[in-house]
Amino acid sequence: SAHSSAKQDSTVSTYACQRRTTLNNHNKIFTDALEILAENLEFCGDQGPSLAFRRAASVLKSLPAALRRQEDTQRLPCLGEHSKAIIEEIFECGSSSRVEEILNDERYRTMKLFSSVFGVGLKTSENWFCRGLRTFEQVLSEPSIRLNRMQTAGFLFYEDISKPVSRTEASALKIIVEEAVICVNPFATVSITGGFRRGKEFGHDVDFIIKTPEAGQEDVILPAVIERFKSQNILLYSDLQESTFDIRQLPTHCFDAMDHFSKCFLIVKLKCEQETDARAARDWKAVRVDLVAPPLERYTYALLGWTGSTLFERDLRRFARLERGKLLDNHALYDKATNTFLPANTEEDIFAHLGLEYIEPWQRNA
Ligand code: CTP
Ligand code: MN
Ligand code: MN
Ligand code: MN
Repeated sequence: SAHSSAKQDSTVSTYACQRRTTLNNHNKIFTDALEILAENLEFCGDQGPSLAFRRAASVLKSLPAALRRQEDTQRLPCLGEHSKAIIEEIFECGSSSRVEEILNDERYRTMKLFSSVFGVGLKTSENWFCRGLRTFEQVLSEPSIRLNRMQTAGFLFYEDISKPVSRTEASALKIIVEEAVICVNPFATVSITGGFRRGKEFGHDVDFIIKTPEAGQEDVILPAVIERFKSQNILLYSDLQESTFDIRQLPTHCFDAMDHFSKCFLIVKLKCEQETDARAARDWKAVRVDLVAPPLERYTYALLGWTGSTLFERDLRRFARLERGKLLDNHALYDKATNTFLPANTEEDIFAHLGLEYIEPWQRNA
């Protein structure tokens, strides 16, 4: 009824960490459009305006039902005039002319293509676009372009790693990772994090977090896992980032900063039942895998940080800082009033420290 929907809408928080956002998105037609606008602004280097569209899309994703008419947007937070105009046009015409324009835009299409390569970020994509390059063939035959090791792997395995990874493939990988981890430390455990922990059926990679029973045991795990994958002949690419973790360091204000834990970004061979490519007669598929091994006392913060979604994490930190005077990142929660680090054994502990209702991983798809 009109009354109950108005009541519901008035309770939608401006913070994603105070909304329950499952994968059951009733407003996909609107959120797809808003996210294309956001992505296009990212490609133009306009991070601020891009975030406004991401927030608008995220609010719509959290709604229990589809918007039925333009007036339904009135009580919702984070919807600016621009977002409302896009929604209105979709109500009236079924699609947004601005979105159609972007989808046909040469710059958008080229940036989307180039940045889909592992190791190619926005700066590199823009550089190639500005030099007149439009296709992979042109990039790869341009003599002045020197690809780094990551980009070389990105192009080499592009066909496989641009395909979504299924939950079944993620489970098969978990067994492989677990076996390797247990060889180093039989008491260590492996958990799936990232999008699969939020319940997604497909991902662009598989994220794992490793828990060691004692602090200090985490640093030897990833180098040993990499060595084992090498000896099993399943390692196609690895980028090991050794720990730079400092227990005294305060959580960072900068959302985009990488965490300091021991971690690695891999491409591994995953055996498959059928040959992926009849001509190549391969019985494996290249898959992107991320591993992180935090020290035990910071495991829960790392788990929360690596579960995502990115917007959920961003709003958790923003909420902690602006509403609670606390600093949160992947390493810790720090109370500025008492100058203390707050310990946490479970994610529930962290939400409780922040005075937030607990949000389950599958409700964090903001
Ligand atoms: N993350 C992080 N530090 C990194 C890499 C990732 O904190 N060095 C976090 C991201 O902020 C995100 C989560 O780990 O919250 C998972 O990242 P990613 O794999 O990129 O995204 P997913 O949500 O898993 O989505 P996808 O299915 O596309 O992989
Ligand atoms: Mn611009
Ligand atoms: Mn992921
Ligand atoms: Mn990842």
